[in-house]
Amino acid sequence: MSTLLIRNIKGLVQAERQARTEARGAEMADLPVLENAYLVAENGHISRFGPMSECPENADEVLDATGRYLFPSWCDSHTHLIFAASREEEFVKRIRGLSYEEIAQQGGGILNSARRLQACPEEELLENAWGRLQEVISFGTGAIEIKSGYGLSTESELKMLRVARRLKEISPIPIKTTFLGAHALPLEYKSDRTAYVNLLIREMLPRVAAEGLADYCDVFCERGFFTVEETDRILKAAWQYGLKPKIHANQMDYSGGVQVGVENQAVSVDHLEHCGDAEIAALLSGQTMPTLLPSCSFFIGIPYAPARRLIDAGLPVALASDYNPGSTPSGNMPFVVSLACIQMKMLPEEAIQAATLNGARAMEMEHELGTIAIGKKANLFLTYPMPSIAFLPYAFGSRLIETVILNGRLNTGNKIG
Ligand code: NIG
Ligand code: FE
Repeated sequence: MSTLLIRNIKGLVQAERQARTEARGAEMADLPVLENAYLVAENGHISRFGPMSECPENADEVLDATGRYLFPSWCDSHTHLIFAASREEEFVKRIRGLSYEEIAQQGGGILNSARRLQACPEEELLENAWGRLQEVISFGTGAIEIKSGYGLSTESELKMLRVARRLKEISPIPIKTTFLGAHALPLEYKSDRTAYVNLLIREMLPRVAAEGLADYCDVFCERGFFTVEETDRILKAAWQYGLKPKIHANQMDYSGGVQVGVENQAVSVDHLEHCGDAEIAALLSGQTMPTLLPSCSFFIGIPYAPARRLIDAGLPVALASDYNPGSTPSGNMPFVVSLACIQMKMLPEEAIQAATLNGARAMEMEHELGTIAIGKKANLFLTYPMPSIAFLPYAFGSRLIETVILNGRLNTGNKIG
């Protein structure tokens, strides 16, 4: 039995007073923080925490956290972490004036990544993704969702998901996987969209399910990508294989994606840069988590999702990175939290709830992660000394995470396997 004791914690963030599965509306600003606290992790899980006056004497390993805050790890519920190559040439094209959509229409964008991925050996994909996983762990991420969607053929989609499975086997943090065959229409199906949707439903989904390769099914429900009707068909088929929906919706337009997601009991609908009364009403009628990705708005220069309106309507909001080579080449969750505060006017407390507990909920891990509670996985990070919690989003871009703790141990290793 190995125990880790962290003592003299300036503030233990998300220390549960009572068990919660999400934070919604006004609750989001009520972030529990226990001052002058200790925490014990035993066999990978949180076994005790409380005020320093009740701190136990000994443990196998003791860490002094004077001046520092201890957080539950970020739960990043939306990434495209597996890809073959970066796309900085498109970044330069955007600087010169082309839009993200124009680049996609010219065969760049997702189709560009798909060509590169199809030609990339599995080992190389795994090695690249492993490096990115190590990087995001150093930013404090302690659970992550990873999508396919750069395969766009049965074999390549399966290849991506097999890489994700291998990553899962060797990863120190939990990974949820999502099948996103409906990310873009391959060029060869341009004149017969239905044939690709049929392929997804009749060939890809059954094979993904037979190999147990995915937890969720995603669709890019968007102008120029997949319609509401196509999304509905795919999501209904996915449910038959036990894959719950988690979809891309309303990034470029009022696409109807939010409504079709809620109707199909999606775990989350993500992006929501275009989100008005009808979308809010739909969200209020269901259990689907609205998940916002402000780094994407920042990077490709599109509007930010109306986080304030969602929260003020009483909804929960989750934050995720959307790490991908096209619209968000960054998995830096502290930066996501900063952007949420600076650009979407979320309070630091709200943004932290959104990136921890609500992120966990957006990948159905709220019983294992996302807060400090007895029995939860001891995936945590300790900040450098900071004056307050608001300092974390305020000091954007600064290195504020001093120590990462995964499974109750200090994280040091970064070698593959
Ligand atoms: O979430 N919007 C669709 N998918 C990604 C971008 C994918 C890409 O450009 O490669 C996103 O932003
Ligand atoms: Fe995405």
